[in-house]
Amino acid sequence: MQITILNGPNLNLLGTRQPEVYGSTTLQDIETMCAAKAEALGASITFHQSNHEGTLVDLVHEARTTSAGLIINAGAYTHTSIALMDAVASVALPCIEVHLSNIHARESFRHTSYLSPVALGLICGFGAKGYELALEGLVAHLRKDRS
Ligand code: DQA
Repeated sequence: MQITILNGPNLNLLGTRQPEVYGSTTLQDIETMCAAKAEALGASITFHQSNHEGTLVDLVHEARTTSAGLIINAGAYTHTSIALMDAVASVALPCIEVHLSNIHARESFRHTSYLSPVALGLICGFGAKGYELALEGLVAHLRKDRS
């Protein structure tokens, strides 16, 4: 079972970017954690980061033929990108939206997510651990295990 994990703008700077908000874990650390978690769950991942909206749209399209589901931290595009929302809706893959921070406890412009209406679920506020939680939830959903 292949899962595509996508990361949006500025997430390449994790580790040094506002550590008081996002923690000190790097994106490379998160990729390593996700690969180990996926293996423990009997799945595998492809992991990408891009600062470009169109590239993220292309990667969602690509997942249609390679993956059983999506995990997306779209960064600031969460709050702005109708294109990314349409891409997720178009490929009809189950998608878990992830944020390191609790977007609902922050500035009001972060309270709107264009991805939430097309996502299976949302995990936010648990830092890097949220990616592992998303993998668990998505794999259980794909295996139809709702216990
Ligand atoms: C974020 C939250 C977004 O509001 C912000 O623009 C990010 C990171 C998070 O993981 O908490 O870039 O998606």
